[in-house]
Amino acid sequence: MQKSIGNKVNCAVFISGTGTNLNCIIKNAKKKFFPIKVSLVISNKSDAFGLNYAKKNNIPTKVFSSLNMKSFEKKTLEELRRKKIKFICLAGFMKILSKKFIKKFGYNIINIHPSLLPKYKGLNTHFRVLKNKEKISGCTVHYISSKLDSGKIILQKKVKVKNNDTSISLQRRILKQEHILYPEAIKTIFS
Ligand code: GRF
Repeated sequence: MQKSIGNKVNCAVFISGTGTNLNCIIKNAKKKFFPIKVSLVISNKSDAFGLNYAKKNNIPTKVFSSLNMKSFEKKTLEELRRKKIKFICLAGFMKILSKKFIKKFGYNIINIHPSLLPKYKGLNTHFRVLKNKEKISGCTVHYISSKLDSGKIILQKKVKVKNNDTSISLQRRILKQEHILYPEAIKTIFS
């Protein structure tokens, strides 16, 4: 995707929960040479903690909770058009966007997932990694498709699994790496 010279790409971040990846994207986007500007945060949960990071940084938020997916996508597309959003980062967004939505928006949608895709798509990633006695796990930033945690991979980061790891300790270590990987992947896309 091309960025007009001197301008940042207008971006929306979609969240459902804690929003630590959102926070790290906001922090990076404040830097002069980072390619995107976060102009909108969309949540499907009214109590998503991540909304606080948007508010703290004076970024407009929209909450579309208790809607079915069709209405959610319709309202969201309207809002994205109103705000002239050209790029979407999913950050802990717990819904699957439809093929129609992805096409209508123009495919510029990326996601972060806490595993080395294509391994361990879906939920309870760290638990399954430990159960299978994997030595290495990690995180992936990828374009989205209408299939869960699929789509072209942009960047990955490996994290060693320790003998005494629990799901929580592994999740914490991987999340730290996610905060490095996500901004790197955004830079890679626009370089
Ligand atoms: C992250 O582990 C991300 O990879 C996954 O959901 C989690 C969201 O964390 N998709 P946060 O809301 O960004 O803190």
